[in-house]
Amino acid sequence: MSTRSPYSVHRDIRQASTLPGNFYRDPAVYAALQDQVLPRTWQWVGNDRKLFDKATARPLQLLPGSLNEPLLLTRGKDQQVRCLSNVCTHRANLLLSGAQDCRGLSCGYHGRRFDLTGQMLSMPEFDSVADFPAASDNLPQVPTAAWAEQRFVSLDPACSLQALLDPVSRTLGEMPVHEFRYEASLTREYVVGAHWALYVDNYLEGFHIPYVHPELARSVDFQSYDVELFEWASLQRAQPRPGELAFERSYSAADCGKPAAAYYFWLFPNTMLNFYPWGLSVNIVHPLTVDQCKVEFHSFLWRPELLELGAGGSLDKVQREDELVVEGVQAGIRSRLYQRGRYSPKRESAVHHFHRLLSQALQT
Ligand code: FES
Ligand SMILES: [Fe+2]
Repeated sequence: MSTRSPYSVHRDIRQASTLPGNFYRDPAVYAALQDQVLPRTWQWVGNDRKLFDKATARPLQLLPGSLNEPLLLTRGKDQQVRCLSNVCTHRANLLLSGAQDCRGLSCGYHGRRFDLTGQMLSMPEFDSVADFPAASDNLPQVPTAAWAEQRFVSLDPACSLQALLDPVSRTLGEMPVHEFRYEASLTREYVVGAHWALYVDNYLEGFHIPYVHPELARSVDFQSYDVELFEWASLQRAQPRPGELAFERSYSAADCGKPAAAYYFWLFPNTMLNFYPWGLSVNIVHPLTVDQCKVEFHSFLWRPELLELGAGGSLDKVQREDELVVEGVQAGIRSRLYQRGRYSPKRESAVHHFHRLLSQALQT
């Protein structure tokens, strides 16, 4: 598929046009995003404290609904966390169906055994097999790393997790994110009738806040809302209106020193780390089909007494308002009459940045 000309986005936002409507409509583009772009990105898979609570091995499907890659997380005797294939190297049976506290893995089909590093230990009835065992009989391993106990996995990362999250670390400085506690009762899932990138486009601009989120607009100051771009990420920083809830202080010299109502970090292409005075909401946008995605919210509490307050106070309502508008855009994007739009340099730089990253990733 030639993607260079139809989907390139000018580097100068003042001259650029948005991605065209058929970027979001064409099943071939959707498939290219799935096959070429998503495998090269880091995906959040959970919190180490929860993942390894009473378990040393846990199955995990990477991006269910799109990549569907069957993987395993293990923590061995050396305490090192590894991400292995959950597919037996004999005839591809899935090894593990649920979390286990075990010292090794054993295939339920013909009894092949592996240790928690993925090394094959034994195989019945294979005495006369030539060149066996070989390295290819061990379970393949893929990169995994954690930040503040939040675990990420990538099949073939285009950058290191550290490089991806460095802007978050620098901005938040000494904020004790690793102490935030997962709260299962706050987990939410929303199926949205729109292409996943349309949901992300909407997330990446605060331009719509006064029009779409009247309640949120009373908490945050639209005029001072600012955007910072990084190589693979962006930050939208909302300041509070006078008298509205803010973080107690800045936590780093890299932050601008002004009060913050929320830090909205986005990690290319589908992960959001939203920091509010009450804690962290990890939002994942799962591609499902060319016109449907699922958004998950996972909450980590720092100051639970602030949960209902300020910019982080009515997340469900804000999400419903966003869904309505994003589903409206999905209907609009089907129009034969819509081609491409233009960007507001002041308000839509993070959308432009996302579109550039998408179009570049499709060309590599
Ligand atoms: S598929 Fe696992 S031992 Fe045969
Ligand atoms: Fe919104």
